[in-house]
Amino acid sequence: MATPFLKWAGGKARLVPVVAEALSGRPIERYVEPFLGGGAMFFGLRARGLRAPALLADANAELIATFAAVREDVDAVVGVLRPLAEAYLGCDREGRRELYYRIRAWEPGDAAGRAARFIFLNRTCYNGLYRVNREGRFNVPHGRYVRPRICDEANLRACAAELAGVELRCADFAEVCAAAGPGDFVYLDPPYHPSSATANFTAYTERAFGWADQVRLAEAVRALAARGAWFALSNSAHPAIAALYEGLHRRTVQMPRAINSRASGRAPVPEFLFARV
Ligand SMILES: C[S@@+](CC[C@H](N)C(=O)[O-])C[C@H]1O[C@@H](n2cnc3c(N)ncnc32)[C@H](O)[C@@H]1O
Repeated sequence: MATPFLKWAGGKARLVPVVAEALSGRPIERYVEPFLGGGAMFFGLRARGLRAPALLADANAELIATFAAVREDVDAVVGVLRPLAEAYLGCDREGRRELYYRIRAWEPGDAAGRAARFIFLNRTCYNGLYRVNREGRFNVPHGRYVRPRICDEANLRACAAELAGVELRCADFAEVCAAAGPGDFVYLDPPYHPSSATANFTAYTERAFGWADQVRLAEAVRALAARGAWFALSNSAHPAIAALYEGLHRRTVQMPRAINSRASGRAPVPEFLFARV
């Protein structure tokens, strides 16, 4: 069974049973996911029997290139990643730090190298975060995991098998939503509207996801629903979000917090799930 090969902020594994139940028995033409991230919903639904063709997309070009490299040639990715993992795990703390920053500065010339670098950094950086500077260079510091799972070969191969035949696209969500039609099911997990002044983690790509994007997204979702596509959309349980999607079916789900690990932040948080299913 394939599980996400990346740690990704806002991972949706816990929501899989809710969406799977809503979908059960419904014939789907195509599964579309415009905010792929680590793909927890895609892999989770596949494990629960989803077999429809899929279109998976994200605005993060390195992320999509990594998924594509795993799909195209998982052996080549493992061939670069395995020795990196062995070297890292064999080092003391200082050696690991030095290797991490060397790989962070590395600019591989081929797809397998780029994917291996991306997975290595994702598994060894601080909290599995993804953040880039103005030039688009990954700039997260070294993490503190004692035994990180860097190269889970069996799972990478299982992911490659699930991705065979899947369409991958690096694109803005508007383009992907516009491609969804009658009978398609679209799962949307955008960067959330901040539920408080401190909960503003939206820097997954060079460009932050602001309120204008939330408005654009709501328009795109209303349009795809009007065309006869099914959808489910997650977002923070914020009054402004409730107002934006007014008139669409809404439920509130309790989700564990993903990245912030301060004790006070560990209690489950309510999130909205809007749907037409
Ligand atoms: C909350 S994360 C998705 C997490 C994912 N559901 C998971 O389980 O790992 C949001 C994703 O939206 C992507 N993103 C940000 N702005 C975007 C845009 N304008 N169009 C498409 N994707 C975008 C980010 O790169 C990020 O991967």
